[in-house]
Amino acid sequence: MKAEIGIDVKRAAKLLRDGGLVAMPTETVYGLAANALNSRAVLSIFEAKKRPGFDPLIVHIGSLEQVAEVAIDYPRKAQKLTEHYWPGPLTIVLKKRDIIPDIVTSGLDTVGVRMPRHPLTLQLLQDVGFPLAAPSANPFGYVSPTTARHVADQLGDRIDYILDGGPCAVGVESTIVSFTEHKPKVLRAGGLSLSEIRRVIGDFDVDDQSTSQPLAPGMLSEHYSPTTPIYLGDIKSLASRFSDKRLVVLGFTSTYGFEGEALSKTGDIREAAKNLFAAMRRLDSGNHDVILSEMVPAEGLGLAINDRLSRASTPLPNGEKMINV
Ligand code: TXA
Ligand code: MG
Repeated sequence: MKAEIGIDVKRAAKLLRDGGLVAMPTETVYGLAANALNSRAVLSIFEAKKRPGFDPLIVHIGSLEQVAEVAIDYPRKAQKLTEHYWPGPLTIVLKKRDIIPDIVTSGLDTVGVRMPRHPLTLQLLQDVGFPLAAPSANPFGYVSPTTARHVADQLGDRIDYILDGGPCAVGVESTIVSFTEHKPKVLRAGGLSLSEIRRVIGDFDVDDQSTSQPLAPGMLSEHYSPTTPIYLGDIKSLASRFSDKRLVVLGFTSTYGFEGEALSKTGDIREAAKNLFAAMRRLDSGNHDVILSEMVPAEGLGLAINDRLSRASTPLPNGEKMINV
């Protein structure tokens, strides 16, 4: 049976209390939520997504006080950053408490924690009172969902309810910052920019793989991939290379005269981030052999957009991803 789409927070809360699975809106992407303290419920998230057990889930909370329920250490800089940007597109990684089952963290002794910025989901977190484990609500390896419809299309028959909060305002997943070592470290570029983080906590490290830059061929895990191959690079060169194919273009400000979509005609990076995943889905569902795309300027949310595009893209026949920023 297809899960109903609606705005009934009380019903969603009841389903979660009973160990069910509910898709919930956040400002970044839709999450697939279960009671983070119930191993059996969390296991069903992995099953619904066909997600491998080694990929840990983020635990969502509804208040700053709840950090202490799930984590042991809450360093000063982590406090400052969360006071500034929560609720918002920021996940912090801290040492976990035993109350969080191993299945949530894939056996790690750390836990990713986030307070999402969406009124329905904050209400839901208040109502249930327990933390919610939630990955993005897409089948493993596919593009993240930014509308309730995206969730219904792919996971509708495997979950109990879809809470509809409209299209996601930010459109790319949260930025993940780890506070488990001496110096804070960005593990994933996302909806909070590096300069916004720097402004509040000063210096930090950036994990090489968090932005897919610098690019080491072969280092990129295939992720966020549509079914139609995406080639990334200079669109006009790609178009001549693939001239015998039915091609469609996903450009930054224009489509260079080809059929396709521009992420932001005015070159607004935030608008581009907001449109990214929905545009990838639309182009993927058309009748095309290849999607040709290009990097956006590597500023602000541009790092996260380029990271997601790189991960979604297919290597050219010579084995390398074709990049030019
Ligand atoms: O914006 C978001 O973060 C969305 C919404 C739903 O909150 N969630 C999301 O979840 O993107 P997911 O599961 O698609 O990606 C979470 C990533 C995982 O790939 C994992 O690598 C990382 O967070 N992660 C989770 N817990 C971690 C931990 N303890 N240490 C390091 N990385 C962790
Ligand atoms: Mg995901």
